[in-house]
Amino acid sequence: MTTTTASQEAFLQAFHAEHPAVTTEALGSGRAPDGRSSYEILCDRVGDSRRVLDLGCGDGLLLELLARGDGRQLAGVDLSERCLALARQRPALAGARLEAARAQALPFSDDSFDACVSHMALMLMGEIEQVVAEIARVLSPGGTLACVLGGGAVGGEAYELFIGLLRGTIRAAPASQRIPSLGDSRTRSREGLDELLGPAGFTAVDWETVPIDLSGPVDQVWAALSGVYDIGPLDGAAVERLRTAFFAEVRDLTTPEGLVPCAFTVHLATARLR
Ligand SMILES: C[S@@+](CC[C@H](N)C(=O)[O-])C[C@H]1O[C@@H](n2cnc3c(N)ncnc32)[C@H](O)[C@@H]1O
Repeated sequence: MTTTTASQEAFLQAFHAEHPAVTTEALGSGRAPDGRSSYEILCDRVGDSRRVLDLGCGDGLLLELLARGDGRQLAGVDLSERCLALARQRPALAGARLEAARAQALPFSDDSFDACVSHMALMLMGEIEQVVAEIARVLSPGGTLACVLGGGAVGGEAYELFIGLLRGTIRAAPASQRIPSLGDSRTRSREGLDELLGPAGFTAVDWETVPIDLSGPVDQVWAALSGVYDIGPLDGAAVERLRTAFFAEVRDLTTPEGLVPCAFTVHLATARLR
């Protein structure tokens, strides 16, 4: 492992040790225009695949949804023992194989899975060629890779406002309070993913961008947005200034019923191993 990847993974482990359920708390109730969550949409992408691996499974919400499929054999890996401890508490995952492991070195034999899923995790991973090689190794020929990847702001709503304020806060913070740059930017575009997946034997990527609505009362919206990694190392005073500025500026967007419009996009990427 390179020192850059080691420091990225050390950051992720430390962050999730403190916030093991942060992603499901922020995004579990987010809704696409068709009323499904990004987890439910991803779950549907694997069809009736029987053996499914979740890369960066976190506290296991996606695996729990997948467990509704008849006779599925499920596995999940994550860097974070704290996240895995929460996943293991889900009764639906009693039969799942949940392992503390790096996606760059999967503890499974060749051709073990019919599908590999990953929700908001692939774009955080370093040494991505190695991750892709491992996915191709553990998938059976014809197997599906389906991922949800972070997109950006929809515009004119609270997420865009938050990101603008957060950027200013980070610029003003000392370097010691900034997170390492995470992952490989090629995972955030269709072209980049094609460049990574094609040589490993995958078909061209099917790519769809979906808005996810996180609107709600201001406290709920702040709770969801303030779970981002960048806030982790900031000192308490900086976070409080950010919170105060957000609550002040978001008033202009708030409806008379007290609803703060908030949305961001995710990319749904699917490819098949030839
Ligand atoms: C943003 S969280 C998403 C968790 C979960 N998939 C969800 O959406 O609720 C990213 C997760 O990926 C895990 N992760 C990041 N890089 C990893 C790697 N190289 N190998 C295994 N897990 C990794 C982190 O530990 C973290 O739990």
